[in-house]
Amino acid sequence: MRNTERLAVLGAGHVGPVIARLAIAAGYPVAIATSGDPDDIALITELVIPGARPRWASDAIADADIVVLAIPLHRFAELDPGLLAGKIVVDAMNYWPASDGVLTAFEDGGTRGSSEIVARRLAGSAVVKALNHIGYHELEDRARPAGAPDRRAAGLAGDDQAAVAAVAELTGRLGYDPVRLGGLRAGRVLQPGGPVFGQVLTLPEFERAVHEDARSLS
Ligand SMILES: NC(=O)c1ccc[n+]([C@@H]2O[C@H](COP(=O)([O-])OP(=O)(O)OC[C@H]3O[C@@H](n4cnc5c(N)ncnc54)[C@H](OP(=O)(O)O)[C@@H]3O)[C@@H](O)[C@H]2O)c1
Repeated sequence: MRNTERLAVLGAGHVGPVIARLAIAAGYPVAIATSGDPDDIALITELVIPGARPRWASDAIADADIVVLAIPLHRFAELDPGLLAGKIVVDAMNYWPASDGVLTAFEDGGTRGSSEIVARRLAGSAVVKALNHIGYHELEDRARPAGAPDRRAAGLAGDDQAAVAAVAELTGRLGYDPVRLGGLRAGRVLQPGGPVFGQVLTLPEFERAVHEDARSLS
């Protein structure tokens, strides 16, 4: 693994461009893609994500070390798992039936985290749940360099330790204290209904919220 991994951000809607901008500011080479022709997002990319390279999704993925899924979960089935094999995949998606509709595969009563279900389909990838629990406006506005007194925390969870380390570094460089929660199942605390979803907390606040949630479940 090189010191600065190349990022492919899939999704140029609300959160994808924010992640791309923060990553460019942190020094990552970034490609951005939608499901369509990169020419369609060339101008907007130049204007709102200067430095990012619009590409076909397959090309962006092929050249990336880390692929960020910033697409709606109901579009996830469109992705070819074969393209993502061997990649670190950041699952920034949330299951939101109000906008995704009911997705049967993700309706299991909360026993499994949505990223576990994503990972089962992406069996050849190292999936890490991250960057999903902070709204896109705040994700950008609240990002701070390491050591800043008002720096906030962002959680991540994954089963592959090398991938978790790479995504923890990414999270830190994007502007948040990374909190490693454990395996993908532990990532349930980051998803809708979990104690830190939609929250922008300091590290102690984050740890307290997760701890209190674990106690309430035990
Ligand atoms: N909005 C937030 O504040 C926020 C924060 C954290 C996480 N999230 C999560 O991030 C995901 C995306 O949210 P969003 O609000 O950014 O969605 P959005 O504004 O609807 O944007 C979705 C983007 O994904 C692209 N896309 C769809 N299918 C694709 C595919 N197969 N390959 C490549 N690109 C594809 C869309 O472009 P085309 O349709 O042109 O392909 C569009 O650019 C959701 O799961 C959400 O829960 C959102």
